[in-house]
Amino acid sequence: MPATRTIGVAVSALALLGVATMSTASATPEHGDGHRAAPLVLGHRGASGYRPEHTLASYELAARMGADYIEPDLVSTKDGVLVARHEPEIGGTTDVAKRPEFAARKATKVLDGVSVTGWWTEDFTLAELKTLRAVERIPDVRQRNTIYNGRFQVPTFQEVIDLSKRLSRELGREVGIYPETKHPTYFRKIGLDLNPKVVEALERNGLNRRGAKVFVQSFEVGNLVELSRKLRVPLIQLTSASGAPYDFVASGDKRTYADLLTPAGLRGVAKYAYGIGPAKDQVIPRDAAGNLAQPTALVGDAHAAGLKVHPYTFRAENAFLPANLRSSAVPAEYGDLFGELSAFWAAGVDGVFSDNPDIAVASRAETFPRR
Ligand code: G3P
Ligand code: CA
Repeated sequence: MPATRTIGVAVSALALLGVATMSTASATPEHGDGHRAAPLVLGHRGASGYRPEHTLASYELAARMGADYIEPDLVSTKDGVLVARHEPEIGGTTDVAKRPEFAARKATKVLDGVSVTGWWTEDFTLAELKTLRAVERIPDVRQRNTIYNGRFQVPTFQEVIDLSKRLSRELGREVGIYPETKHPTYFRKIGLDLNPKVVEALERNGLNRRGAKVFVQSFEVGNLVELSRKLRVPLIQLTSASGAPYDFVASGDKRTYADLLTPAGLRGVAKYAYGIGPAKDQVIPRDAAGNLAQPTALVGDAHAAGLKVHPYTFRAENAFLPANLRSSAVPAEYGDLFGELSAFWAAGVDGVFSDNPDIAVASRAETFPRR
């Protein structure tokens, strides 16, 4: 069935559900035959809906569920090793707070202008960090994941790359990696610049080449521009629904994320990036009641600038869904993630970051059946 017709079916179903949708006109035909290429499924922090985030177990599950890419966020240890954590402060995602030997490492620091108290990867050598164990970040919402607390280490970037290569061989398809440099201005300021380490790691693994199944992403701009001169893989400019890239803030540049997403801003991003990774609300906002509203012009504007669009983050729990797609008032219960994804496929996105890659893969298969 042609993809456009299938999308139409999905849109009708959404209308019945009371979900706002748009016409299929913005779906981008990318094949010579007029069919739209199926969007990518990006395993967000692995399959973090089912395992503590940024563990090898989470990444492996994502790949086995069919994710095209696994997504490590990268920070640095004291001895300059890239490891996978969402932020340098690790009190919420490891058992460090229960380790008396590290009690004295607790420190208050200013991270991107915000005072944060906890334990910091840059104060631990890799050997020390490896003695810690990952825990579930949101145990109230993901109680089932807590049975894995204490079972997995903090992986290095190299271990994530090694895993992707092993699973690619085993699964008979290439499992891509989608690393994100976290807080690059912060790490550069403390003498642990992330960029050279990322370039070195990709070079060392034969991945700094055209055609390698790798995207590199950042919420900052300056480090992506710098990487664009050193990497041959596509780059993704992440944007938040509010605020500004922290390197802009630090240098006194008044531009915001909203400025990057105007048609002129997007043309500027296209000079160094392959695509954008917006917050999902920047693609389809919610109305005053919290329901999914009409799509913005962002997908069309980005495509007009030659940019792909990979919004984040698609999660099955009611806590993260629009009001009209929730199953109940209980935050941890599953709502209609299929419905949310259908609306975003119809809006023309080129990929989605999801904590539940199995659901994203199943939804994609419904909307974009193999031809
Ligand atoms: O990188 C895409 C998405 O992961 C950005 O948000 O905060 O989950 O890293 P975050
Ligand atoms: Ca990320």
